[in-house]
Amino acid sequence: MKAQSYVNGEWVCNDENSLPVYNPYTKEIIGEQFQATEVDVERAISSAFATKKEIAKIPSHERAAILKKAATLLDQQKEKFAKIISLELGKPMRFTLDEVARSVETLELSAEEAKRLIGETLPGDVSSRGSKAIAVTFKVPVGVVAAITPFNAPLNLVAHKIGPAFAAGNSIIFKPATPTTLVATEFVKLLMEAGFPKTSINMVLGRRDAVQQIVKDDRVNVISFTGGLVASKNICKLAGIKKVLLELGGNAATVVHHDANLVKAAKMCARTAFSNSGQSCISVQRIYVQKSVLNDFVNLMREEVQALKVGDPLLLDTDVGSMVDENNAQRMIDWVDEAVSMGAEVLCGAKRENAIVHPTLLLNPPHRSKVVCDEVFGPIASIIPYETIDEAIEATNNSEFGLQAGIFTNQMDLAYKFAQSLDVGGVVINGTSNFRLDHWPYGGVKNSGIGREGPRYAIEDMTETKMIVYQINN
Ligand code: SIN
Repeated sequence: MKAQSYVNGEWVCNDENSLPVYNPYTKEIIGEQFQATEVDVERAISSAFATKKEIAKIPSHERAAILKKAATLLDQQKEKFAKIISLELGKPMRFTLDEVARSVETLELSAEEAKRLIGETLPGDVSSRGSKAIAVTFKVPVGVVAAITPFNAPLNLVAHKIGPAFAAGNSIIFKPATPTTLVATEFVKLLMEAGFPKTSINMVLGRRDAVQQIVKDDRVNVISFTGGLVASKNICKLAGIKKVLLELGGNAATVVHHDANLVKAAKMCARTAFSNSGQSCISVQRIYVQKSVLNDFVNLMREEVQALKVGDPLLLDTDVGSMVDENNAQRMIDWVDEAVSMGAEVLCGAKRENAIVHPTLLLNPPHRSKVVCDEVFGPIASIIPYETIDEAIEATNNSEFGLQAGIFTNQMDLAYKFAQSLDVGGVVINGTSNFRLDHWPYGGVKNSGIGREGPRYAIEDMTETKMIVYQINN
């Protein structure tokens, strides 16, 4: 398999910039990727800029039909795409099949939103100076959207940027994450087959230099970035006057109150803390449990976690595959060691085999340990007791992040108070932090980002409001 940049409608292959693509589970080389040069990135930006007017002129119903066709083609090839992601990322097939199904839906939702770029009619007589004026607003494309995407959901999080950007009539520069360029290449091929105009997407493979070149360029109008906090701060420094949309990470909390269905809570926490080896921005990282049910919950949760099947990502019954690479796997072990040295107890896991880290459950790490206050982005979850709901609220909010949170309780008033008191983008009642449907607004506050994804919401940021004023003559 070969991953290449796609510039001005052509696949680019620079032999001197080739890198092997590894399967992190087997360590085998499964392909080759060709990184873009500075000249390629410049050509990609020029091509996107030159094409933007042409894309804006495509009628909404045609853009919708192209996106719908892309969804249909992807649905027809779901096994192929799921397998590529599993091979490249080590994410188990049951989750990559789910990711492909979600991507189909994201493209379909984008197709529907392409037909809903609706403006307003604004009578002028609201002001004494405007009794003879009327204004009409239109949603118009911003021009060029840069989609800079992460490795952890390398198809759906791409669909979440390319789908709305094209639905709104923009041309796109796409920079996929370096570990997952094979699926990105196949996706761009599929989009071209679906009828995307040849130069509507320019894809460049590369590392930080490529990102910086794109971000700095004034021909790019919107940066839509999903990734880490450090990279996002650099992007903000370099971007100049353009919109920057950031979907960043978190150290998501889920609260289990004494009256919750503990069996359900333990099952759901186990499932959603370790899917994709915890490599999701909303993965359950901190589990606050009311003291009176702590022992029961610990026993139930440990049982659930130990029942997870760890192993070959290509087998359909595997729950936990490998992490993206061995460096990250070793980071998990280091972070557990730090928490233990600060007093945490290991309930299970804490074992590494190459890039696999067995699902790890900790009890009572202190707040200042990395597994609590930083973003783990790996298969470690921590159980921490609390006495009162106010304590649980304070602990949940005691974070530089604010993406999503969850609470299990049978008391609606208490759940509502919890939800209203949190500084986060979304709260799930009777579920964990790790639940997202693709039409919902998704994004965070504080260091978890700026803006919302979900096609309808992303389109708001990928369009400008243009006003035309009519002055009545008589
Ligand atoms: C993420 O932000 O890591 C993606 C979560 C999801 O789409 O389920």
